[in-house]
Amino acid sequence: MAVELHTLPSKCRHRFPIFEKRVYVNSCSQGALSDAVRASYDQYLRDWDEYGAPWEYWTERTEAARSAFAKLINAAPEEIAVTTSLSAGVASLASGLRFAGPRHKVVLTDWEFPTIGQIWHAQESRGARVVHVHEAEDGTLPPKHFRQAVDEETKLVSITHVCFRNGAKVDVKPIVAIAHERGVPVLLDAYQAVGSMPIDVKALGVDFLAAGVLKYLLGSAGLAFLYCRRELWEQAWPTATGWFADKNVFEMDIHDYSPAPDARRFQSGTPPVPSMYAGIAGIELMQEIGIAATQKHVRRLTELLIEGVDELGGTVVTPRNPNERGALVCIKSTDAERLVEDLDREGIVTSSRDGNLRVSLHAYNTPEDVKTVLWELGRKRSLLV
Ligand SMILES: Cc1ncc(COP(=O)(O)O)c(C=O)c1O
Repeated sequence: MAVELHTLPSKCRHRFPIFEKRVYVNSCSQGALSDAVRASYDQYLRDWDEYGAPWEYWTERTEAARSAFAKLINAAPEEIAVTTSLSAGVASLASGLRFAGPRHKVVLTDWEFPTIGQIWHAQESRGARVVHVHEAEDGTLPPKHFRQAVDEETKLVSITHVCFRNGAKVDVKPIVAIAHERGVPVLLDAYQAVGSMPIDVKALGVDFLAAGVLKYLLGSAGLAFLYCRRELWEQAWPTATGWFADKNVFEMDIHDYSPAPDARRFQSGTPPVPSMYAGIAGIELMQEIGIAATQKHVRRLTELLIEGVDELGGTVVTPRNPNERGALVCIKSTDAERLVEDLDREGIVTSSRDGNLRVSLHAYNTPEDVKTVLWELGRKRSLLV
């Protein structure tokens, strides 16, 4: 088992210099910097220096990023908008929906990232009514709660794939089935999932998906995507827009708004060129490492971590069932921020949310990383609950 758990890190860990100095277990915040992503930034600067304004090449890079993400989630490139953050894509979508008429309700969950709650609540000034599906006493989000909340007044169901603060993975398909039975499309926030597990929008049946490259896709800030199923393109008329969302970007027409006929209508201004170099490199590197293999590897490491926390008498708030969790493990703490700082002083990079320590493992992490984290948690036992 130990040998198997070294197969993936032995293929890729040497490409992430941070491991020479630190135990990096914080990919839920940002993936570690690889040689490939660093080289892509150098390339961006070289191209800028050498060609001045190589717009044609940069346009080609936008299309390369669009295609790389499309392939990753089993969509067509025309179904993908290239955005500067997940928030930008979702805000553009929200601006394109009309809440007048019988369907004006947006159903979301208590597990959403703040940006999702904020964007949908912002639509209340445009006539939307926002309803939250709450978790059950056992800490799950049961489909029956969606059966109660989604009805003929519902415009959209907005769910997260893996919760950023407890690591729980939502069972997407039953929720999609409930929504679709009632004629309601589903938006999936897949930021905490993409790159850590295979994602297939067609198999999941979701209508919209938003994600970025900063975390398990090993890119950097500034590049994200919004998937919109082709049948729904025409149903949104974004008012948060810009010239790169126009039907003909270089027509330069200031007398008209004609959104692109496809998902590009959810874009805005100049695409994030430097971030695109990095994003493409990150996505390609994750594909080379293997996302399905990464999911398998991380599941095993995560089991070691959970067992170890149990042995310390700590409390893991992330579900035990591997099918009900992502790559993120959340551990209860009396003072999570202090625990993060204490671990940081020992060279271990983690993060905290909602009173929990967050430890997220990736393809580059080893059983030794887990042991080191557990050893330090043992020394800081008084900060565990
Ligand atoms: C689940 C989830 N959704 C959305 C976001 C925010 O994405 P952005 O800053 O690109 O809008 C994050 C970032 O941490 C996240 O974890």
